Amino acid sequence: MSIRTVATTPFSDQKPGTSGLRKRVTHFQQPNYVENFIQSLFDSLPGRQGQTLVIGGDGRYFNDSVIQIAIRMAAANGFGKVMVGQGGILSTPAASHIIRHYGAFGGIVLSASHNPGGPDGDFGIKYNASNGGPAAEKITDAVFARSMEITQYKSVDTPDVDLGQIGVHDVAGMSVEVIDPVADYAALMETLFDFDAIAAMFAQGFTMRFDAMHAVTGPYARAIIEGRLGAPEGTVVNGNPLPDFGGGHPDPNLVHAKDLYDLMMSPDAPDFGAASDGDGDRNLIIGKNRFVTPSDSLALLAANAHLAPGYAKGLAGIARSMPTSAAADRVAQRLGIALYETPTGWKFFGNLLDSGQVTICGEESAGTGSDHVREKDGLWAVLLWLNILAARKQSVDEIVREHWTTYGRNYYSRHDYEEVDADDARALITDLRTKLPGLLANGLDGRKVILADDFSYNDPVDGSTATGQGLRIGFDDGSRMVFRLSGTGTVGATLRVYIERFEPGDGMHDRDTQEALADLIALADAVAEIKARTGRDAPTVIT
Ligand code: G6P
Ligand code: ZN
Repeated sequence: MSIRTVATTPFSDQKPGTSGLRKRVTHFQQPNYVENFIQSLFDSLPGRQGQTLVIGGDGRYFNDSVIQIAIRMAAANGFGKVMVGQGGILSTPAASHIIRHYGAFGGIVLSASHNPGGPDGDFGIKYNASNGGPAAEKITDAVFARSMEITQYKSVDTPDVDLGQIGVHDVAGMSVEVIDPVADYAALMETLFDFDAIAAMFAQGFTMRFDAMHAVTGPYARAIIEGRLGAPEGTVVNGNPLPDFGGGHPDPNLVHAKDLYDLMMSPDAPDFGAASDGDGDRNLIIGKNRFVTPSDSLALLAANAHLAPGYAKGLAGIARSMPTSAAADRVAQRLGIALYETPTGWKFFGNLLDSGQVTICGEESAGTGSDHVREKDGLWAVLLWLNILAARKQSVDEIVREHWTTYGRNYYSRHDYEEVDADDARALITDLRTKLPGLLANGLDGRKVILADDFSYNDPVDGSTATGQGLRIGFDDGSRMVFRLSGTGTVGATLRVYIERFEPGDGMHDRDTQEALADLIALADAVAEIKARTGRDAPTVIT
């Protein structure tokens, strides 16, 4: 089969962000846009000849077309084998596991995570390396550099591969194996958690709702929660993945999973509520009358992980992204293990996990995970919670309250200003950065400032440095505010403001979060001139 070489010209905007290249579907549909990016990626992967590439996605609109393009280009670029999920489906954590389990060279994950899908929605392409984790910046930088000078791409003229059935196909001499997207992942979960104890809890009448948001986790949750754990049929809702997520926004937060939240706050609430996002790496955890913030969930999972067989020997260390609350720091301190603070983006956990320095990681953006894969993992978090509930035989609310009494509570909230003018947003950050030395010297509004910097991270494993990762202003009472621009938005800029205040173990734990943080919120607005510069009266989303 002859390889076709097609002339092309560069696009100037193929720089991968926090989590791969993410744009509107219509943007990706420009002639050669997908091909240019995939060729730039392959050109940046020496040693790929004869190797195995994993391909899968969250099933969103355009997934099927791009998978076929990627398969043909992989054949033309010397890969020996492609493994692809049936129907083109692989959740992000499952893709990570498949790469590791089968010793693949890497994988292409097609997703825009929690962003809406459909013809007018978003699409994304992300590369994961052989450790199963998002490519390090030196790879994504190389891909971007290559995309700026690309002149041709390679493909083959072969018909589409039938992804509907499990089986092996030949594409221009390259083998394409269509695999069950769920089986290997489910088997991995069974090695980590006490499925018998969780099944016994369901058998005794424990009730749950898992909202798959018409996204990728539907088939996984049905197979594991309703299948292996024996929860009643109907426990998983919105379980059929749809190309446009049923018109919804597959972001498991209090805005987009409002139905679940309302149910959990109602008299009809089941014992446990959870949801996951478009590609299955995020999680939302809600008990009866008790929402658990992602930052608290990380701390709670770390404090209780030893109750699950996979973590019975204890944790090596904990890592959290810088804007995530310091709740996990207090757990690490008590356990006598290290706590690492990394920039936003799961890729920064990779080296710490690979080197065995941390076992559990988490981010305020609804991501938690462990060294079982190299991505955050929504269902993993749900199953660890179920394991903890089965072992402790207490409600979510009781467990959270006991935790706060032991460790104190970090009141925490994130305010997002979405789709603001990119220049205005950059200017806000630049100007605030110039104020930091003055704040450190003089305090702010009568408060003593003990930290005021632009976060930079030195990776303790490979010595690389990431600068400009967010402005931090920390006060002497443990309160903190952080300002950064999102790396995952697709239109304009998104300003994120993260606010946190520590309340000791014997303090007041029942205050409304926004109220408890009101003075800091006002202070953040004043110091960064948010309203004036964005022209917005209020954040677009509060989580
Ligand atoms: C993705 C990444 C996360 C990150 C989140 C928010 O989900 O995988 O690691 O925390 O985006 O990133 P952003 O740059 O939009 O705050
Ligand atoms: Zn996601």
